[in-house]
Amino acid sequence: MRFSFALSALGLTSQVPLQPSPPEPAAMTSTQDAFQFKEGSDVFTPRDLVELGRPGVGVANHAGDFVLIPYSKYSFEEKKNHKSIYVAPLESTVKPFKLPLVEGGEAFWLNGKTLAYVVESDQKILEIFALDILYQPATGELAGVLTAEAPVLLGSFPTTSASNFRYSTHGFLVFSDSVYPDGNLTTVKEQDAAWENRGNTALVYDRTYERHWDHWVGPKTQSLFSVRLVQNPDHKWTFGSEFVNLLAGTSHSSPVEPFGGTDDFDVSKQSVIYTTLDPAFEDERAWHTKQDVYIVDITGGNRRELTSGSQGATHNPILNEANDKAAWLELDEDGYESDRAKIVVYDLQKDVRFTLTQNWDRSPASLAFSKEGDFIYFTAGELAKVKVFVLPIPSTPAESTTDPSLSSKYLNPVPIVEDGASSGLQILPYGRILISKSSFTSPNDVFLIKGLDALQTEIIQSDRSTNFTGEVKQVTNFTASDLEGKDLSKGEEFWFKGANDIDVQGWILKPKGWKKGEKKAFPILLLIHGGPQGAWEDQWSTRWNPNVFAQQGYFTVAINPTGSTSFGQAFTDAIAGDWGGKPFVDLQNGWKFILDNYPEVDADRAVAAGASWGGYAINWIQGHPEYNFEFKALVCHDGVFDSSYNGFSTEELFFFNHDWRGRPWDKNSEQVLRKFNPSNFVHKWGTPQLLIHGSKDYRLPETEGIGAFHALQQLHIPSRLVIFPDENHWVLNSGNSLKWHYEVFRWFDKFVGKKN
Ligand SMILES: *[C@@H]1O[C@H](CO)[C@@H](O)[C@H](O)[C@H]1NC(C)=O
Ligand SMILES: *[C@@H]1O[C@H](CO)[C@@H](O)[C@H](O)[C@H]1NC(C)=O
Ligand SMILES: *[C@@H]1O[C@H](CO)[C@@H](O)[C@H](O)[C@H]1NC(C)=O
Repeated sequence: MRFSFALSALGLTSQVPLQPSPPEPAAMTSTQDAFQFKEGSDVFTPRDLVELGRPGVGVANHAGDFVLIPYSKYSFEEKKNHKSIYVAPLESTVKPFKLPLVEGGEAFWLNGKTLAYVVESDQKILEIFALDILYQPATGELAGVLTAEAPVLLGSFPTTSASNFRYSTHGFLVFSDSVYPDGNLTTVKEQDAAWENRGNTALVYDRTYERHWDHWVGPKTQSLFSVRLVQNPDHKWTFGSEFVNLLAGTSHSSPVEPFGGTDDFDVSKQSVIYTTLDPAFEDERAWHTKQDVYIVDITGGNRRELTSGSQGATHNPILNEANDKAAWLELDEDGYESDRAKIVVYDLQKDVRFTLTQNWDRSPASLAFSKEGDFIYFTAGELAKVKVFVLPIPSTPAESTTDPSLSSKYLNPVPIVEDGASSGLQILPYGRILISKSSFTSPNDVFLIKGLDALQTEIIQSDRSTNFTGEVKQVTNFTASDLEGKDLSKGEEFWFKGANDIDVQGWILKPKGWKKGEKKAFPILLLIHGGPQGAWEDQWSTRWNPNVFAQQGYFTVAINPTGSTSFGQAFTDAIAGDWGGKPFVDLQNGWKFILDNYPEVDADRAVAAGASWGGYAINWIQGHPEYNFEFKALVCHDGVFDSSYNGFSTEELFFFNHDWRGRPWDKNSEQVLRKFNPSNFVHKWGTPQLLIHGSKDYRLPETEGIGAFHALQQLHIPSRLVIFPDENHWVLNSGNSLKWHYEVFRWFDKFVGKKN
């Protein structure tokens, strides 16, 4: 049930599809209901959240002198999402260049300062263009200027769904697209028409997944393709017409649905490496997570598996520049998605595979080889931040091993960036790396980090621990001026003893207008995250942004209870089979800690909200008044109401089977269900509750929300149901996002708002 994927990481084509936004929220409710957000030039309102620019992840060109960043910005006034690509120089202060791509599309670097972008034409044909970025250096006082040559059409694709482009500087473009069982890209349009005109709308299944995340699975699957794309000596580009299906003749599918993107494969000069669900489980997809890593020639052929066969999921396979080493992230357990990810390196010349972080109690999230292939850089969650680390790669052992004997410098990753949440790690020439980083107070900006050559030398030469002392330079500054004067909270950490006396962490975001010592002045809100294997991290978010709650006047508390990630694997694993147990000891102890330490908080005006597992927690708290939270109102978004039924109705069955200790009819899980299913405790419900659910949520189908609503209504407990027919497990549409905030804050206000 994890949803740790930030929207911004999904690339341009996955950006929010926008429908015309509904009328202003106030107009949609009766006047008795009238409620208004706290507003003002110094308040960061829900509307500001929706309208703030959304920078994606920066990608530098091969030479490492320019970065491109996808960017979108919604306007309520125009009811339109403006999409564009920014290009910024990495080593000068020249203003970024903006390439509008109003209808969306993806951009990526070709050679030098040439970028390509792919957009759908008015004739519904997907076309690829090349664009040269021109840099006129400074003269006198003036900084230089960035402009671009007129774009040149390179060619078109046989479909409109090609996506996830990666260019090999040796003249091949690799991308993903979905194809029918013949695997042929050129027959897709014809077969699409035949499918559309089949004379009925039935969908028929002989195996899972019949639906996944937010769509019914159709007859097509994702595959990887390569096509020639070369620059000739006269600088003109040639785009080939032969699209080679790199997975032809296999039952592999990559990127892996529903969230896979460019992270699921990598290209070097002659090879493509990718991860795919294990074809052996083709007929049992919904209850397996095992993924295999394969390498194949960029022209197809010479396919071989690199994984050992005894792994669980694999992620983020990469190749080094010399094409003699591969690496990926590997989990041990098939049927679980949150066990510890370890870095595995594969020596392609010696055919030896070895694990690097066997004993490091963190889960790396993304990987990159150094230019020479002798170091590996990676991001990993650590104590509610997403940091950047580096490790040297030892010489290849004689035989494959999951636990090579290594000296300490190979065992202790050196942190490089320790604040906020980093992503989009990229290695650049001259000892530099590029990252995109966000925090509680800012969406993504691009940062350039220098001095890695010196650090690498020090790591190799020193026997003691090494600290990074190089330069970190902020390259972009997308939203700082829009957030000026809003006084967003950086988040204050607190620690307390949770279940079994384990140290548990949480965040406080003090409310707008906070005054120390002002007794019982502020209502208090407990936010409960989803997953449950997830965390409140020092990261920007466009949904459940803790600062939006603090800015509306709530003392906002976000606790990372048992099950949360980034605090060590034992803490994450400890929630399995114990959903209604240890996490609630943690939440109660954390709550008590806050009430004991902050007399400014008015405990008589306490509310709580959560989504997904957090929604389970809300339904669970409803049935357990003995916890003495004394919440006056609750909000449950896309939460679990009947765990037992959900064990059958959810699409990723492995998740239930793991976290509830078996399938719903197994003896083990039956016992756990009797103890921890929220619907078993409805007779104890008594707190006003708002339920919000997306009808396209196939992870926790909308009947979870509707069922809880029916219980509340029959018990005459104040309750309201908000359904978004077009939203999945997340509320993504801009108008819907504003309406969501309206309903949530209205609900809180009704029960704990100051009555004048
Ligand atoms: C794909 O289909 C086209 C049109 O039917 C055909 O000409 C081509 O040979 C097919 N390609 C492959 C690789 O089968
Ligand atoms: C690195 O930083 C840590 C923590 O600040 C410090 O304890 C340690 O001595 C430093 N190591 C070196 C080699 O400077
Ligand atoms: C970003 O912009 C803000 C406000 O406009 C300014 O205060 C800050 O110094 C800028 N930061 C950088 C690194 O340019």
